[in-house]
Amino acid sequence: MFKSSTTAIPEALKVPRHIAIIMDGNGRWATKRLLPRVAGHVKGVEAVRGVVEHCVERGVEYLTLFAFSSENWRRPAEEVSLLMRLFVTALEREVAKMHANNIRLKVVGDLSRFDPKLQEMISAAERRTANNTRLTVSVCANYGGRWDIMQATGKMVAANPGMTEFTEEMLAPHLAMAYAPEPDLFIRTGGEERISNFLLWQLAYSELYFTKTFWPDFSKASLDEAIASFQQRERRFGQTGDQVAQKSNA
Ligand code: IPE
Ligand code: IPE
Ligand code: MG
Repeated sequence: MFKSSTTAIPEALKVPRHIAIIMDGNGRWATKRLLPRVAGHVKGVEAVRGVVEHCVERGVEYLTLFAFSSENWRRPAEEVSLLMRLFVTALEREVAKMHANNIRLKVVGDLSRFDPKLQEMISAAERRTANNTRLTVSVCANYGGRWDIMQATGKMVAANPGMTEFTEEMLAPHLAMAYAPEPDLFIRTGGEERISNFLLWQLAYSELYFTKTFWPDFSKASLDEAIASFQQRERRFGQTGDQVAQKSNA
């Protein structure tokens, strides 16, 4: 189990150990080019490939990507089914490559709403890459931060029959991403500055980075810019700046 940012002070990091990204702006990228929105999603998959590679190059240990939110079902049926098909082809094409590169794949969210064949593909990919250690890529699909907190609460209550008072430490192991430390750096592309029901619990002390760049244009250099911004931040975790400076000189 990783220590929580509210119950212990995490160590200072040069390179974020965990980066979480809301990959937004695919539709607008396409519309700007007079292309159908799906063209933006297709191009967005290419951007994922570059960012995964670069996380390996930079020594990031966990990369978490918001691919489909619990609210994205509200989109036109045609776009939803296209996104599902893209997800399937991306899995088919990328899993072998990820495995060869020692990358572990996790798919996080309420998967019960997906086609059973897709669910089977997901668990096969997870099983195949389960022991890989270089980078853990988590794809959040039909994920919502509130869903996560609620499902974890249900499991916590079931695991502690009769109890009426709970601590953070009792909830944390039931969260969907209990296998990862909390994100150090949160990135949202596409210009919006909101969380859109992404990792609500886990972002408690993450550094937030927003860029107007649409996701399909997000390059390795863009990721370097985000990491450089992270490196300028002073993470205080509730302490004073003096306390933080003392520790880094110690
Ligand atoms: C993000 O891009 C991808 C998904 C939500 C699946 P969008 O499709 O939200 O692109 P914009 O925000 O409409 O430009
Ligand atoms: C957030 O983007 C979800 C993903 C990137 C998967 P949205 O485009 O759905 O967010 P809103 O609707 O603009 O808040
Ligand atoms: Mg969007």
